[in-house]
Amino acid sequence: MASLISSLSSTISRLTLLRKPSLHFPVKTLRKFEVDRKRRGPISPFLHVSTNYDFAHFSSCPKAKSMNALGQDEELVVLGIETSCDDTAAAVVRSNGEILSQVVSSQADLLVRYGGVAPKMAEEAHSLVIDQVVQEALDKAKVTEEDLSAVAVTIGPGLSLCLRVGVRKARKVAGTYALPIVGVHHMEAHALVARLVERELQFPFIALLISGGHNLLILARDVGHYIQLGTTIDDAIGEAYDKTAKWLGLDMRKSGGPAVEELAREGDENFVKFKVPMKQHKDCNFSYAGLKTQVRLAIESKNIDASIPIASASSEDRRARADIAASFQRVAVLHLEEKCERAVEWAMKMEPSIKHLVVSGGVASNQYVRSRLNKIVEKHALQLVCPPPSLCTDNGVMIAWTGIEHFQMGRYDPPPPACEPEDAMLDLRPRWPLGEEYAEGKSEARSLKTARVHPSLTSLIQASTQKTS
Ligand code: KG4
Ligand code: ZN
Repeated sequence: MASLISSLSSTISRLTLLRKPSLHFPVKTLRKFEVDRKRRGPISPFLHVSTNYDFAHFSSCPKAKSMNALGQDEELVVLGIETSCDDTAAAVVRSNGEILSQVVSSQADLLVRYGGVAPKMAEEAHSLVIDQVVQEALDKAKVTEEDLSAVAVTIGPGLSLCLRVGVRKARKVAGTYALPIVGVHHMEAHALVARLVERELQFPFIALLISGGHNLLILARDVGHYIQLGTTIDDAIGEAYDKTAKWLGLDMRKSGGPAVEELAREGDENFVKFKVPMKQHKDCNFSYAGLKTQVRLAIESKNIDASIPIASASSEDRRARADIAASFQRVAVLHLEEKCERAVEWAMKMEPSIKHLVVSGGVASNQYVRSRLNKIVEKHALQLVCPPPSLCTDNGVMIAWTGIEHFQMGRYDPPPPACEPEDAMLDLRPRWPLGEEYAEGKSEARSLKTARVHPSLTSLIQASTQKTS
Protein backbone atom coordinates (compact mmCIF):
# COMPACT_ATOMS: atom_id res chain seq x y z
CA MET A 1 0.00 0.00 0.00
CA ALA A 2 2.83 2.31 0.77
CA SER A 3 4.49 1.65 -2.53
CA LEU A 4 5.00 5.05 -4.00
CA ILE A 5 4.41 5.83 -7.60
CA SER A 6 6.42 9.00 -7.44
CA SER A 7 9.75 8.52 -5.80
CA LEU A 8 10.11 9.49 -2.17
CA SER A 9 12.88 11.90 -3.04
CA SER A 10 10.44 14.20 -4.78
CA THR A 11 8.40 14.21 -1.61
CA ILE A 12 11.41 15.03 0.48
CA SER A 13 12.46 17.92 -1.68
CA ARG A 14 9.13 19.49 -0.78
CA LEU A 15 9.67 18.95 2.90
CA THR A 16 8.91 22.08 4.83
CA LEU A 17 11.52 23.33 7.25
CA LEU A 18 11.45 22.54 10.90
CA ARG A 19 10.18 25.18 13.23
CA LYS A 20 12.02 24.24 16.41
CA PRO A 21 14.34 21.39 15.69
CA SER A 22 15.63 20.51 19.10
CA LEU A 23 12.90 21.10 21.68
CA HIS A 24 10.16 19.18 20.07
CA PHE A 25 7.76 18.94 22.97
CA PRO A 26 7.91 21.90 25.33
CA VAL A 27 6.96 21.01 28.85
CA LYS A 28 4.53 22.84 31.09
CA THR A 29 2.00 22.22 33.76
CA LEU A 30 -1.50 21.82 32.54
CA ARG A 31 -3.61 23.24 35.31
CA LYS A 32 -3.07 26.92 34.69
CA PHE A 33 -3.55 26.30 31.00
CA GLU A 34 -6.82 24.40 31.37
CA VAL A 35 -8.27 26.94 33.80
CA ASP A 36 -7.28 29.86 31.56
CA ARG A 37 -8.70 28.20 28.51
CA LYS A 38 -12.03 27.30 30.09
CA ARG A 39 -12.37 30.84 31.41
CA ARG A 40 -11.57 32.43 28.09
CA GLY A 41 -13.36 30.05 25.71
CA PRO A 42 -12.42 30.04 22.03
CA ILE A 43 -10.05 32.87 21.37
CA SER A 44 -10.69 35.55 18.84
CA PRO A 45 -8.85 35.06 15.57
CA PHE A 46 -7.07 38.35 16.22
CA LEU A 47 -5.59 37.39 19.53
CA HIS A 48 -1.96 36.37 19.37
CA VAL A 49 -1.87 33.24 21.46
CA SER A 50 1.81 32.58 21.63
CA THR A 51 2.50 35.67 23.74
CA ASN A 52 0.25 34.24 26.48
CA TYR A 53 1.85 30.81 26.36
CA ASP A 54 5.43 31.55 25.64
CA PHE A 55 7.90 28.72 26.24
CA ALA A 56 9.38 30.77 29.09
CA HIS A 57 6.16 30.31 31.06
CA PHE A 58 6.26 26.53 30.98
CA SER A 59 7.50 24.83 34.08
CA SER A 60 9.79 21.86 33.79
CA CYS A 61 7.78 18.94 34.98
CA PRO A 62 8.59 15.90 32.88
CA LYS A 63 6.07 13.65 34.60
CA ALA A 64 3.38 16.32 34.95
CA LYS A 65 -0.08 14.81 35.01
CA SER A 66 -3.19 16.75 34.22
CA MET A 67 -4.75 17.77 37.51
CA ASN A 68 -8.01 19.45 38.30
CA ALA A 69 -8.31 22.23 40.88
CA LEU A 70 -8.46 19.63 43.69
CA GLY A 71 -5.20 18.10 42.56
CA GLN A 72 -6.90 14.95 41.27
CA ASP A 73 -6.04 13.40 37.95
CA GLU A 74 -8.26 14.97 35.35
CA GLU A 75 -9.66 13.01 32.46
CA LEU A 76 -8.43 14.15 29.09
CA VAL A 77 -10.44 14.09 25.89
CA VAL A 78 -8.15 14.13 22.86
CA LEU A 79 -8.85 14.37 19.15
CA GLY A 80 -6.38 12.37 17.04
CA ILE A 81 -5.80 13.06 13.34
CA GLU A 82 -3.91 10.77 10.93
CA THR A 83 -3.09 11.50 7.26
CA SER A 84 0.45 10.15 6.83
CA CYS A 85 -0.35 7.80 3.94
CA ASP A 86 -3.61 6.91 2.23
CA ASP A 87 -6.13 6.83 5.08
CA THR A 88 -7.76 9.98 6.40
CA ALA A 89 -8.59 9.13 9.99
CA ALA A 90 -9.79 10.90 13.12
CA ALA A 91 -10.91 9.71 16.53
CA VAL A 92 -11.78 11.01 19.96
CA VAL A 93 -10.35 9.10 22.90
CA ARG A 94 -10.49 9.60 26.66
CA SER A 95 -7.45 9.16 28.88
CA ASN A 96 -9.22 6.27 30.63
CA GLY A 97 -8.95 4.41 27.32
CA GLU A 98 -12.55 4.88 26.23
CA ILE A 99 -12.81 5.27 22.45
CA LEU A 100 -15.57 7.82 21.91
CA SER A 101 -15.41 7.69 18.12
CA GLN A 102 -13.34 6.41 15.24
CA VAL A 103 -13.69 7.47 11.60
CA VAL A 104 -11.53 6.27 8.69
CA SER A 105 -11.91 7.31 5.07
CA SER A 106 -9.71 5.17 2.87
CA GLN A 107 -8.54 5.84 -0.66
CA ALA A 108 -9.31 2.35 -1.90
CA ASP A 109 -10.47 3.52 -5.33
CA LEU A 110 -7.23 5.43 -5.85
CA LEU A 111 -5.22 2.38 -4.81
CA VAL A 112 -7.01 0.23 -7.35
CA ARG A 113 -6.56 2.88 -10.06
CA TYR A 114 -2.85 3.57 -9.48
CA GLY A 115 -1.75 0.27 -7.89
CA GLY A 116 -0.07 2.21 -5.08
CA VAL A 117 -0.08 5.55 -3.30
CA ALA A 118 0.45 8.56 -5.58
CA PRO A 119 1.38 11.42 -3.22
CA LYS A 120 -0.34 14.23 -5.15
CA MET A 121 -3.57 12.25 -5.58
CA ALA A 122 -3.45 11.14 -1.96
CA GLU A 123 -3.00 14.74 -0.81
CA GLU A 124 -6.03 15.83 -2.81
CA ALA A 125 -8.10 12.97 -1.45
CA HIS A 126 -7.12 13.88 2.13
CA SER A 127 -7.94 17.56 1.53
CA LEU A 128 -11.36 16.66 0.16
CA VAL A 129 -12.47 14.68 3.19
CA ILE A 130 -10.46 15.94 6.18
CA ASP A 131 -13.05 18.46 7.45
CA GLN A 132 -15.83 15.91 7.15
CA VAL A 133 -13.83 13.14 8.84
CA VAL A 134 -12.91 15.33 11.82
CA GLN A 135 -16.47 16.67 12.15
CA GLU A 136 -17.86 13.14 12.04
CA ALA A 137 -15.41 12.03 14.74
CA LEU A 138 -16.55 14.90 17.00
CA ASP A 139 -20.24 14.29 16.26
CA LYS A 140 -20.02 10.55 16.86
CA ALA A 141 -18.20 11.20 20.13
CA LYS A 142 -20.93 13.70 21.04
CA VAL A 143 -18.37 16.38 21.86
CA THR A 144 -17.50 19.78 20.46
CA GLU A 145 -14.04 21.28 20.11
CA GLU A 146 -14.58 23.06 23.40
CA ASP A 147 -14.77 19.74 25.24
CA LEU A 148 -11.32 18.72 24.01
CA SER A 149 -8.19 18.83 26.15
CA ALA A 150 -5.76 18.67 23.22
CA VAL A 151 -5.32 17.75 19.57
CA ALA A 152 -2.84 15.05 18.53
CA VAL A 153 -1.66 14.70 14.95
CA THR A 154 0.83 12.57 13.02
CA ILE A 155 3.83 14.69 12.00
CA GLY A 156 5.89 11.81 10.58
CA PRO A 157 7.09 9.55 9.17
CA GLY A 158 5.02 9.57 5.99
CA LEU A 159 4.43 11.53 2.82
CA SER A 160 4.97 15.21 3.51
CA LEU A 161 2.18 16.27 1.13
CA CYS A 162 -0.23 14.06 3.06
CA LEU A 163 1.10 14.86 6.54
CA ARG A 164 0.62 18.54 5.79
CA VAL A 165 -3.16 18.14 5.34
CA GLY A 166 -3.60 16.60 8.79
CA VAL A 167 -1.20 18.99 10.51
CA ARG A 168 -2.92 22.03 8.99
CA LYS A 169 -6.31 20.80 10.14
CA ALA A 170 -5.03 19.98 13.63
CA ARG A 171 -3.45 23.43 13.95
CA LYS A 172 -6.63 25.09 12.76
CA VAL A 173 -8.73 23.33 15.40
CA ALA A 174 -6.10 23.82 18.11
CA GLY A 175 -5.56 27.47 17.18
CA THR A 176 -9.23 28.39 17.07
CA TYR A 177 -10.02 26.71 20.38
CA ALA A 178 -6.73 27.45 22.16
CA LEU A 179 -5.87 23.78 22.55
CA PRO A 180 -2.42 22.35 23.08
CA ILE A 181 -1.16 20.19 20.27
CA VAL A 182 0.89 17.00 20.33
CA GLY A 183 2.97 15.97 17.31
CA VAL A 184 2.88 12.18 17.07
CA HIS A 185 5.29 9.63 15.56
CA HIS A 186 3.19 7.30 13.43
CA MET A 187 5.15 4.14 14.32
CA GLU A 188 5.19 4.93 18.02
CA ALA A 189 1.41 5.20 17.76
CA HIS A 190 1.22 1.71 16.19
CA ALA A 191 3.15 0.41 19.22
CA LEU A 192 1.46 2.38 22.00
CA VAL A 193 -2.10 1.63 20.93
CA ALA A 194 -1.38 -1.83 22.38
CA ARG A 195 -1.37 -0.18 25.82
CA LEU A 196 -4.88 1.09 25.23
CA VAL A 197 -6.02 -2.40 24.28
CA GLU A 198 -4.11 -4.24 27.01
CA ARG A 199 -4.07 -2.03 30.06
CA GLU A 200 -1.71 -4.42 31.87
CA LEU A 201 0.97 -3.84 29.25
CA GLN A 202 3.87 -2.20 31.08
CA PHE A 203 7.27 -1.10 29.84
CA PRO A 204 9.65 -2.61 28.89
CA PHE A 205 8.23 -4.64 26.02
CA ILE A 206 9.29 -5.73 22.54
CA ALA A 207 7.33 -4.55 19.51
CA LEU A 208 7.26 -5.80 15.96
CA LEU A 209 5.70 -3.08 13.80
CA ILE A 210 4.76 -4.26 10.33
CA SER A 211 3.03 -2.05 7.81
CA GLY A 212 3.15 -0.93 4.20
CA GLY A 213 6.18 1.28 4.64
CA HIS A 214 7.88 -0.01 7.79
CA ASN A 215 9.26 -3.17 9.36
CA LEU A 216 10.57 -2.38 12.80
CA LEU A 217 11.67 -4.41 15.78
CA ILE A 218 12.02 -2.25 18.86
CA LEU A 219 12.61 -2.49 22.55
CA ALA A 220 10.17 -0.04 24.16
CA ARG A 221 11.56 1.20 27.49
CA ASP A 222 9.11 4.02 28.16
CA VAL A 223 6.88 6.45 26.28
CA GLY A 224 9.25 8.07 23.78
CA HIS A 225 12.19 5.81 24.66
CA TYR A 226 12.96 3.11 22.14
CA ILE A 227 15.90 1.05 21.00
CA GLN A 228 15.68 0.01 17.39
CA LEU A 229 16.73 -3.62 17.18
CA GLY A 230 16.03 -3.97 13.49
CA THR A 231 14.49 -2.32 10.47
CA THR A 232 14.10 -3.08 6.80
CA ILE A 233 16.99 -2.43 4.48
CA ASP A 234 14.65 -2.08 1.50
CA ASP A 235 10.91 -2.88 1.36
CA ALA A 236 8.50 -3.58 4.18
CA ILE A 237 6.41 -6.74 4.37
CA GLY A 238 3.15 -4.87 3.58
CA GLU A 239 4.66 -3.62 0.33
CA ALA A 240 5.52 -7.25 -0.59
CA TYR A 241 1.92 -8.33 0.17
CA ASP A 242 0.54 -5.47 -1.93
CA LYS A 243 2.75 -6.22 -4.95
CA THR A 244 2.02 -9.95 -4.72
CA ALA A 245 -1.70 -9.15 -4.73
CA LYS A 246 -1.34 -6.85 -7.71
CA TRP A 247 0.71 -9.35 -9.75
CA LEU A 248 -1.73 -12.14 -8.91
CA GLY A 249 -4.64 -10.04 -10.18
CA LEU A 250 -6.37 -9.88 -6.80
CA ASP A 251 -9.00 -7.43 -5.68
CA MET A 252 -7.04 -4.53 -4.15
CA ARG A 253 -10.05 -2.66 -2.77
CA LYS A 254 -9.29 -3.70 0.80
CA SER A 255 -5.53 -3.32 0.11
CA GLY A 256 -3.40 -6.24 -1.07
CA GLY A 257 -2.66 -7.91 2.27
CA PRO A 258 -6.13 -9.20 3.10
CA ALA A 259 -6.60 -10.45 -0.48
CA VAL A 260 -3.37 -12.49 -0.36
CA GLU A 261 -4.23 -13.82 3.10
CA GLU A 262 -7.63 -15.00 1.89
CA LEU A 263 -6.36 -16.68 -1.27
CA ALA A 264 -3.43 -18.28 0.58
CA ARG A 265 -5.92 -20.33 2.63
CA GLU A 266 -6.72 -22.32 -0.52
CA GLY A 267 -3.10 -22.89 -1.53
CA ASP A 268 -0.20 -25.23 -0.82
CA GLU A 269 2.42 -23.26 1.09
CA ASN A 270 5.20 -25.62 0.07
CA PHE A 271 4.44 -25.50 -3.62
CA VAL A 272 7.04 -22.87 -4.53
CA LYS A 273 10.31 -23.02 -2.62
CA PHE A 274 11.05 -19.33 -2.10
CA LYS A 275 14.32 -18.47 -0.40
CA VAL A 276 14.05 -16.98 3.10
CA PRO A 277 15.67 -13.51 3.01
CA MET A 278 18.82 -12.57 4.95
CA LYS A 279 19.50 -16.00 6.42
CA GLN A 280 23.23 -15.24 6.58
CA HIS A 281 22.75 -11.95 8.47
CA LYS A 282 22.80 -12.64 12.20
CA ASP A 283 20.91 -9.45 12.99
CA CYS A 284 17.29 -8.32 13.34
CA ASN A 285 17.00 -6.50 10.02
CA PHE A 286 14.59 -7.34 7.24
CA SER A 287 14.58 -7.35 3.47
CA TYR A 288 11.58 -8.01 1.23
CA ALA A 289 12.79 -6.70 -2.14
CA GLY A 290 14.37 -10.04 -3.10
CA LEU A 291 11.28 -12.02 -2.12
CA LYS A 292 9.18 -9.69 -4.26
CA THR A 293 11.39 -10.47 -7.24
CA GLN A 294 11.15 -14.23 -6.55
CA VAL A 295 7.36 -13.94 -6.48
CA ARG A 296 7.26 -11.98 -9.74
CA LEU A 297 9.44 -14.57 -11.46
CA ALA A 298 7.28 -17.43 -10.15
CA ILE A 299 4.16 -15.68 -11.46
CA GLU A 300 5.78 -15.15 -14.86
CA SER A 301 6.91 -18.78 -15.04
CA LYS A 302 3.33 -19.95 -14.44
CA ASN A 303 2.07 -17.61 -17.19
CA ILE A 304 -0.41 -15.99 -14.84
CA ASP A 305 -2.15 -13.06 -16.47
CA ALA A 306 -2.90 -10.43 -13.82
CA SER A 307 -5.22 -8.62 -16.21
CA ILE A 308 -7.62 -11.53 -15.74
CA PRO A 309 -9.14 -10.92 -12.31
CA ILE A 310 -8.99 -13.89 -9.97
CA ALA A 311 -12.78 -14.07 -10.00
CA SER A 312 -12.71 -14.94 -13.72
CA ALA A 313 -9.72 -17.30 -13.60
CA SER A 314 -10.05 -21.02 -14.47
CA SER A 315 -9.86 -23.41 -11.52
CA GLU A 316 -6.37 -24.50 -12.56
CA ASP A 317 -5.22 -20.89 -12.82
CA ARG A 318 -6.81 -20.06 -9.49
CA ARG A 319 -5.04 -23.01 -7.88
CA ALA A 320 -1.66 -21.81 -9.21
CA ARG A 321 -2.28 -18.31 -7.87
CA ALA A 322 -3.33 -19.67 -4.48
CA ASP A 323 -0.19 -21.83 -4.28
CA ILE A 324 2.01 -18.82 -4.97
CA ALA A 325 0.10 -16.69 -2.43
CA ALA A 326 0.49 -19.39 0.24
CA SER A 327 4.16 -20.02 -0.55
CA PHE A 328 4.90 -16.28 -0.46
CA GLN A 329 3.08 -15.86 2.85
CA ARG A 330 4.92 -18.76 4.48
CA VAL A 331 8.36 -17.35 3.64
CA ALA A 332 7.44 -13.70 4.30
CA VAL A 333 6.28 -14.66 7.78
CA LEU A 334 9.14 -17.09 8.38
CA HIS A 335 11.45 -14.11 7.88
CA LEU A 336 9.51 -12.26 10.61
CA GLU A 337 9.70 -15.29 12.90
CA GLU A 338 13.47 -15.69 12.56
CA LYS A 339 14.19 -12.03 13.24
CA CYS A 340 11.71 -11.92 16.12
CA GLU A 341 13.40 -14.86 17.80
CA ARG A 342 16.72 -13.03 17.72
CA ALA A 343 15.13 -9.78 18.87
CA VAL A 344 13.63 -11.57 21.87
CA GLU A 345 17.08 -12.87 22.81
CA TRP A 346 18.71 -9.45 22.44
CA ALA A 347 15.97 -7.62 24.29
CA MET A 348 15.86 -10.13 27.16
CA LYS A 349 19.59 -9.63 27.65
CA MET A 350 19.00 -5.90 28.11
CA GLU A 351 15.69 -6.11 29.98
CA PRO A 352 15.11 -9.55 31.56
CA SER A 353 11.76 -8.38 32.99
CA ILE A 354 10.09 -8.23 29.55
CA LYS A 355 6.78 -10.08 29.46
CA HIS A 356 5.18 -9.02 26.19
CA LEU A 357 5.70 -8.98 22.45
CA VAL A 358 3.46 -6.41 20.76
CA VAL A 359 2.68 -6.97 17.08
CA SER A 360 1.00 -4.04 15.39
CA GLY A 361 0.69 -2.18 12.08
CA GLY A 362 -1.54 -3.17 9.14
CA VAL A 363 0.07 -6.59 8.52
CA ALA A 364 -0.56 -7.56 12.15
CA SER A 365 -4.26 -7.93 11.22
CA ASN A 366 -3.24 -11.11 9.42
CA GLN A 367 -4.36 -14.27 11.24
CA TYR A 368 -1.53 -16.41 9.89
CA VAL A 369 1.03 -13.83 11.11
CA ARG A 370 -0.59 -13.81 14.54
CA SER A 371 -0.69 -17.57 14.92
CA ARG A 372 2.95 -18.02 13.83
CA LEU A 373 4.23 -15.31 16.16
CA ASN A 374 2.17 -16.75 18.97
CA LYS A 375 4.30 -19.89 18.75
CA ILE A 376 7.42 -17.81 19.33
CA VAL A 377 6.09 -16.01 22.36
CA GLU A 378 4.91 -19.29 23.86
CA LYS A 379 8.39 -20.72 23.45
CA HIS A 380 9.85 -17.79 25.38
CA ALA A 381 7.07 -17.69 27.99
CA LEU A 382 5.96 -14.27 26.79
CA GLN A 383 2.52 -12.95 25.94
CA LEU A 384 1.49 -11.72 22.52
CA VAL A 385 -0.41 -8.44 22.37
CA CYS A 386 -2.06 -7.76 19.04
CA PRO A 387 -4.55 -4.90 18.74
CA PRO A 388 -7.78 -5.74 16.87
CA PRO A 389 -7.49 -5.26 13.07
CA SER A 390 -9.26 -1.88 13.15
CA LEU A 391 -6.52 -0.59 15.47
CA CYS A 392 -3.68 -2.33 13.59
CA THR A 393 -4.30 -0.57 10.28
CA ASP A 394 -3.92 3.21 10.24
CA ASN A 395 -6.45 4.91 12.48
CA GLY A 396 -7.01 8.05 14.53
CA VAL A 397 -7.38 6.21 17.85
CA MET A 398 -3.69 5.31 18.00
CA ILE A 399 -2.77 8.95 17.35
CA ALA A 400 -5.14 10.28 20.03
CA TRP A 401 -3.90 7.66 22.50
CA THR A 402 -0.22 8.40 21.86
CA GLY A 403 -1.05 12.08 22.23
CA ILE A 404 -2.56 11.27 25.63
CA GLU A 405 0.50 9.28 26.69
CA HIS A 406 2.84 12.17 25.85
CA PHE A 407 0.49 14.82 27.16
CA GLN A 408 0.37 13.11 30.52
CA MET A 409 4.15 13.36 30.63
CA GLY A 410 3.97 17.08 29.94
CA ARG A 411 5.16 16.84 26.34
CA TYR A 412 3.13 19.02 24.02
CA ASP A 413 3.18 22.31 22.15
CA PRO A 414 1.19 25.40 23.06
CA PRO A 415 -1.82 26.34 20.91
CA PRO A 416 -0.82 27.64 17.50
CA PRO A 417 -1.88 31.17 16.54
CA ALA A 418 -5.62 31.35 15.95
CA CYS A 419 -5.12 32.77 12.51
CA GLU A 420 -2.14 30.97 11.08
CA PRO A 421 -1.27 31.90 7.49
CA GLU A 422 -1.90 29.18 4.89
CA ASP A 423 1.78 29.12 3.95
CA ALA A 424 3.10 28.88 7.53
CA MET A 425 6.12 26.60 7.80
CA LEU A 426 5.09 23.32 9.39
CA ASP A 427 7.10 20.83 11.38
CA LEU A 428 6.74 17.73 9.20
CA ARG A 429 9.09 14.77 9.52
CA PRO A 430 8.71 12.45 6.49
CA ARG A 431 11.76 10.40 7.48
CA TRP A 432 11.87 10.21 11.21
CA PRO A 433 13.46 7.26 13.00
CA LEU A 434 11.75 6.13 16.17
CA GLY A 435 14.63 5.10 18.39
CA GLU A 436 18.36 4.81 18.55
CA GLU A 437 19.92 1.84 16.83
CA TYR A 438 21.08 -1.06 18.98
CA ALA A 439 24.85 -1.06 18.53
CA GLU A 440 25.12 -4.85 18.03
CA GLY A 441 22.35 -4.74 15.49
CA LYS A 442 23.80 -2.23 13.06
CA SER A 443 23.56 -3.61 9.58
CA GLU A 444 26.19 -3.19 6.92
CA ALA A 445 23.53 -3.79 4.34
CA ARG A 446 22.23 -0.22 4.34
CA SER A 447 20.30 1.29 1.53
CA LEU A 448 19.45 4.93 0.98
CA LYS A 449 15.91 4.27 2.14
CA THR A 450 17.09 4.11 5.73
CA ALA A 451 19.11 7.33 5.55
CA ARG A 452 18.09 9.72 8.30
CA VAL A 453 16.88 13.22 7.69
CA HIS A 454 15.66 13.91 11.18
CA PRO A 455 16.99 13.04 14.64
CA SER A 456 15.07 10.15 16.20
CA LEU A 457 12.13 10.72 18.53
CA THR A 458 14.07 9.18 21.41
CA SER A 459 17.14 11.38 20.90
CA LEU A 460 14.93 14.51 20.80
CA ILE A 461 13.19 13.55 24.02
CA GLN A 462 16.48 12.76 25.73
CA ALA A 463 17.89 16.12 24.62
CA SER A 464 14.85 18.06 25.86
CA THR A 465 14.86 16.16 29.18
CA GLN A 466 18.52 17.05 29.73
CA LYS A 467 17.77 20.69 28.91
CA THR A 468 14.93 20.93 31.42
CA SER A 469 16.59 18.99 34.27
O1 KG4 B 1 -0.27 0.33 9.03
P1 KG4 B 1 -0.96 0.42 7.73
O2 KG4 B 1 -2.45 0.55 7.72
O3 KG4 B 1 -0.41 1.61 6.85
C1 KG4 B 1 0.93 1.94 6.81
O4 KG4 B 1 1.40 2.62 7.75
O5 KG4 B 1 1.57 1.49 5.83
O6 KG4 B 1 -0.52 -0.87 6.90
C2 KG4 B 1 -0.98 -1.08 5.61
C3 KG4 B 1 -0.37 -2.36 5.11
C4 KG4 B 1 -0.69 -2.61 3.64
O7 KG4 B 1 0.49 -3.00 2.98
C5 KG4 B 1 -1.68 -3.76 3.70
O8 KG4 B 1 -1.66 -4.60 2.57
C6 KG4 B 1 -1.24 -4.49 4.93
O9 KG4 B 1 -0.91 -3.46 5.85
N1 KG4 B 1 -2.29 -5.35 5.48
C7 KG4 B 1 -2.18 -6.70 5.53
C8 KG4 B 1 -3.40 -7.16 6.05
N2 KG4 B 1 -4.20 -6.09 6.31
C9 KG4 B 1 -3.49 -4.98 5.96
N3 KG4 B 1 -1.18 -7.52 5.16
C10 KG4 B 1 -1.38 -8.82 5.32
N4 KG4 B 1 -2.52 -9.36 5.80
C11 KG4 B 1 -3.56 -8.58 6.17
N5 KG4 B 1 -4.68 -9.12 6.64
ZN1 ZN C 1 0.72 2.70 9.67
